[in-house]
Amino acid sequence: MQSKLRDREALFKTVDKQRVAANFSRAAETYDSAAALQKRVAARAMLGVPAGFQPERVLDLGSGTGSQTSILKTTFSDAHVTGVDLAMGMLKHASSQELDASWCRGDIESLPFKNDSFDLVFSSLAIQWCELETVLSEVRRILKPGGLFVFSSLAKGTMVELNQAWQQVDSHVHINGFDPFSLQQQKVSNSALQQRSLMLQQETLYYPSVLTLLRELKALGVNTVHSAQQGLTTRARIQKLEQAYESSRTEVGLPLSYQVIYGTLVN
Ligand SMILES: C[S@@+](CC[C@H](N)C(=O)[O-])C[C@H]1O[C@@H](n2cnc3c(N)ncnc32)[C@H](O)[C@@H]1O
Repeated sequence: MQSKLRDREALFKTVDKQRVAANFSRAAETYDSAAALQKRVAARAMLGVPAGFQPERVLDLGSGTGSQTSILKTTFSDAHVTGVDLAMGMLKHASSQELDASWCRGDIESLPFKNDSFDLVFSSLAIQWCELETVLSEVRRILKPGGLFVFSSLAKGTMVELNQAWQQVDSHVHINGFDPFSLQQQKVSNSALQQRSLMLQQETLYYPSVLTLLRELKALGVNTVHSAQQGLTTRARIQKLEQAYESSRTEVGLPLSYQVIYGTLVN
């Protein structure tokens, strides 16, 4: 029983990067219109940059459609801003907007930049599919001394309602696993970066139906991104999911919670 649970937990956390890239590439045209929470989170993460900070070189890790890269360029107009992402579709979309920024395909866990390259590394809702220790070590390597890493990410408990509803339908892993906040705090304090701030905040969205919720996740490219085999999402299974999710319904609709981490670290 214990080892079955461990296997499931491991599967829950196994991320298939090709699938991450394919899902986000497919969502490049629909992402911005569905990303209300993501925009709010990024704006809040951005508050982690201290007033008066004047970076010369800025990197947006997991830059997606480039919406935050664009804000970084507006905020730090004299800086050279680069967006890096795994998903070719996202990069194509971002680069078609004639923003004064450079674009680069790359993996956050193995960044294609030299040591001491950036004054500010920003990242919103992208590092949660990576191994945090590797991300912190890569970010430290490419940050100049005194440089800042300002980010948002996700912790365990994210989409708990959807996960619980799926568990009543079948035994597949449908939701990506995220480490608990306490474990991520520990990884940050074990890293060579110094912690200026690190906090957790819950955000809950409400939907009229399971179908609107699933459609929004698909538009965002946030389909399941682990490497497990999944069955087909048949109408019968969706109906089961709808029934299971009803037990969580509130006056304002079906809840979907996000456990959002905000951090500012210094090299
Ligand atoms: C939820 S979107 C966020 C995009 C943008 N930061 C924003 O706030 O709108 C996550 C982005 O991270 C990218 N991503 C996920 N894992 C990555 C990795 N290992 N390396 C580079 N990019 C990654 C995805 O392709 C996607 O574009």
